[in-house]
Amino acid sequence: MELSDVDLPEDGVLLSAGQIADRVEGLAREIEVAYEGLELLIVGVLGGAATFTADLTRAMRRPVEIDWIAASSYGSGTKSSGVLRITKDLEIETRGRHLLIVDDILDTGLTMSLLTSKLTSRGAASTEACVLLRKPYVPSRAIEPKFVGFDIGDTFAVGYGLDHAGKYRNLRCIASLDGTATR
Ligand code: IMP
Ligand code: MG
Repeated sequence: MELSDVDLPEDGVLLSAGQIADRVEGLAREIEVAYEGLELLIVGVLGGAATFTADLTRAMRRPVEIDWIAASSYGSGTKSSGVLRITKDLEIETRGRHLLIVDDILDTGLTMSLLTSKLTSRGAASTEACVLLRKPYVPSRAIEPKFVGFDIGDTFAVGYGLDHAGKYRNLRCIASLDGTATR
C-alpha cells in the first residue's frame, strides 16, 4: 500500500477516530446492560469487523468469549452479489449460547440475516446483531440490528476495518470512498 492510499483528504472523512472511539465506548455500555448476568459469545465477522470487534470487546468491563466467522456478500466491487459465502466457520460451540454477531456495516442486511438464521438454527439461546454503521433503510432489508453505532448516508464507506478491494482497512477514521475515488 502506498502512503497516498491512507492519506485521505479531510472532506472525505465521515467519522473521526475520536467520534468512533466515543461511540464504541457507548455501545459497550449498552451491551453490558443488555447482557447483565448472561454469558456472552461475541461473533466477529471477518475481515471488516475485526478492528471494531477488537475495540468493542476491549471496551467491555465484563467477561466475554470471542470467535470469528468469515462471510461475504461482496466481491471486489461496490454492489452486493446477493450471495453469502462462508469461508471460515466458528470454532466455539454455539448451542445454548447467547450470541452477539458483530459486523462493520449493514446495507441490505443480507449478510446479517443469513448469518443470524444459520447460527440460530444451530441452537443458540439468543442471536442478536451489532453493527458499527447502518446505511439508509431499504424496504427489502431483512433485519434491523439491536445495537447500531452510527447511521450514515448512502455512500461507500472505508476505513476502521472497512475496505474497498482490500484497501483502506488501516485508516483510523471512516471516510467516504466518493471523496477519495479520484486519488
Ligand atoms: P449487506 O449484506 O448488503 O448488508 O452488506 C454487508 C456487508 O457488505 C458488510 O459486512 C461489508 O463487508 C460490505 N459492505 C456493505 N457496504 C459497505 C461499504 O460502504 N463499505 C465497505 N463494505 C461494505
Ligand atoms: Mg463484511
